Amino acid sequence: HAGTVYEAEKATLSQATVANNHAGYTGTGFVDYTNVTGSYVEFTVTAPAAGSARLDFRYAFDAPDNRPMDVTVNGTKAVSNLAFPPTGAWTTWQVATTTVNLQAGSNKVRATATTANGGPNLDNLTVTPNNVDTTPPT
Ligand code: GCU
Repeated sequence: HAGTVYEAEKATLSQATVANNHAGYTGTGFVDYTNVTGSYVEFTVTAPAAGSARLDFRYAFDAPDNRPMDVTVNGTKAVSNLAFPPTGAWTTWQVATTTVNLQAGSNKVRATATTANGGPNLDNLTVTPNNVDTTPPT
């Protein structure tokens, strides 16, 4: 079962802006978190059933620091300070992965910068529910 891709530039943003000045993004751009603690991107994602789901955040940044972010699901903190280590270039996009529990139907998944450097540049979020039957049809 393939995951569903949600573009960051279509998400709800706080203290963050849509940009397209570094190549390699999917969709029409990416989100540039401003360099502010508490800046966030909130995705509205759909789960077919309640249960765990893998989150793959596609991001880039070229800096000597780290850009950890808290992940909340429906207002509750699910992951503290998920690591987004430097990718080496603003045009080099990598994935930071974690697993959370989702409810059936619509969910708000928010990634919030926890340092004054803000978050990395965020391209998209792929959500892959783990409880989906992946057995091929016979
Ligand atoms: C640079 C870069 C931006 C990035 C910013 C940052 O200005 O061009 O794309 O968002 O650094 O530090 O977050």
